[in-house]
Amino acid sequence: MKRKIIAGNWKMYKTLKEGLAFLDVFIPLCNREMMEKCSLVLAPNFTLLVSMAGRCREAGISLAAQNCHPTGEGAFTGETSLAMLADCGVSHVLVGHSERRAIFGETDDFLNQKLKAAVAAGLIPILCVGETLEQREADVAESVVEKQLQQGLHGVDLDEKMMVAYEPVWAIGTGKTATAADARTMHQCIRQCLESMGGGGDLPVLYGGSVKPANAAELLAAPDIDGVLVGGASLNPEDFARIAGSM
Ligand code: 13P
Repeated sequence: MKRKIIAGNWKMYKTLKEGLAFLDVFIPLCNREMMEKCSLVLAPNFTLLVSMAGRCREAGISLAAQNCHPTGEGAFTGETSLAMLADCGVSHVLVGHSERRAIFGETDDFLNQKLKAAVAAGLIPILCVGETLEQREADVAESVVEKQLQQGLHGVDLDEKMMVAYEPVWAIGTGKTATAADARTMHQCIRQCLESMGGGGDLPVLYGGSVKPANAAELLAAPDIDGVLVGGASLNPEDFARIAGSM
């Protein structure tokens, strides 16, 4: 059985002390059975990366950054390069989370630059895509996601190590989850889109949006869903462990 990917996005939550306290509780819960069934990824804030790296590596947990800048170095106040992230022990990086798109105005073209730079730097980008409620109600969800994929992955070799996370915007932080059937339909659409772009057969597609211990098992049981990207419930070590142990 293919290992499912269980990723936690801490967003702008947790101080250093809180992040380390999370690991104190979470790491002992990562038993062998769980680690055989899933690959764990945690995306804390930049400020926690260095301090968490050693313990995560020893525990077999991959560390992700929540954002990056595509340029190698330069006068970009407040930004972080991929080499800087790699230096901190980071192996994965979120690209195009809907909060980056909506609040910080990141465009598909800019995300494409980040994605290419992440691949070139040897990091695994997790490209986040997803439609808003308005778009879903207007029946354009699939075309919105296809466009995000086509532009975000433009000129990228789909056989490179990377992932896609389907996160419907209306399901993020709202307590509303896409039904497993809806998620599967979109995941199949994403697969077809990747195939039409010439590859991506091995590219994991995760689901994100109000994933909780109560709904994780059903989502993870779906063969088209290769893992989950968890926001709120990843802040609690017991909840995140229950999600990872729900297969
Ligand atoms: P929630 O799980 O809090 O809905 O957040 C999902 C998310 O944005 C993960 O990146």
